[in-house]
Amino acid sequence: SEKITLEELKSSFRDVIDFPKEGIVFKDITTALKRPEIFRHLVDELYEKYKDLGITKVVGIESRGFILGAALAYRLGAGFVLVRKEGKLPADTHKKSYALEYGSDTIEVHKDAIDKGETVLVHDDLLATGGTAAATLDLIKVFEPKKVYASFIIELAFLKGKDALGESEELDIFSLVSF
Ligand code: PRP
Ligand code: ADE
Repeated sequence: SEKITLEELKSSFRDVIDFPKEGIVFKDITTALKRPEIFRHLVDELYEKYKDLGITKVVGIESRGFILGAALAYRLGAGFVLVRKEGKLPADTHKKSYALEYGSDTIEVHKDAIDKGETVLVHDDLLATGGTAAATLDLIKVFEPKKVYASFIIELAFLKGKDALGESEELDIFSLVSF
């Protein structure tokens, strides 16, 4: 596939000022996703990083985490698991409430989504304060996975989300782009 430079990738995202609230600079990924060469590049880069790690489940966080999460699961030959906002999943769930950069919410995962000892890749489009990802990792822990990886397209480094998640031997955190 065509070579995409880091600068080209960074400039493919759009800043939207004061969305969804005053004071927030919203990183809009739709301007990147609509470009075939960028969409492919994002999937390919993440695939190259995770291809040989024995990942059996990709967990996508609603809603923007579903986009590349599903594409990655397909390429990795892994299953796909949905972490959804409260009230959307139909069967028995584990639940967790959390704060994020511009509000608070509750997420859920089906109790039978992951088996003990699986190798799990959690994916979301963006790491801001880390509230959403930390809540997701808490939900995943219940399943006693062998190893958990966390991947993001974008990290807002000034919000220190990585610190909130706490990188460790059990957790490997990675983002393609940092602002
Ligand atoms: C956004 C983003 C992450 C989260 C990051 O999702 O997609 O999930 O915020 O913020 P945090 O690191 O401060 O927790 P949002 O809840 O806006 O939902 P959406 O993907 O459905 O738009
Ligand atoms: N989620 C949390 N903060 C965000 C931001 N600044 N841009 C896009 N998504 C976000």
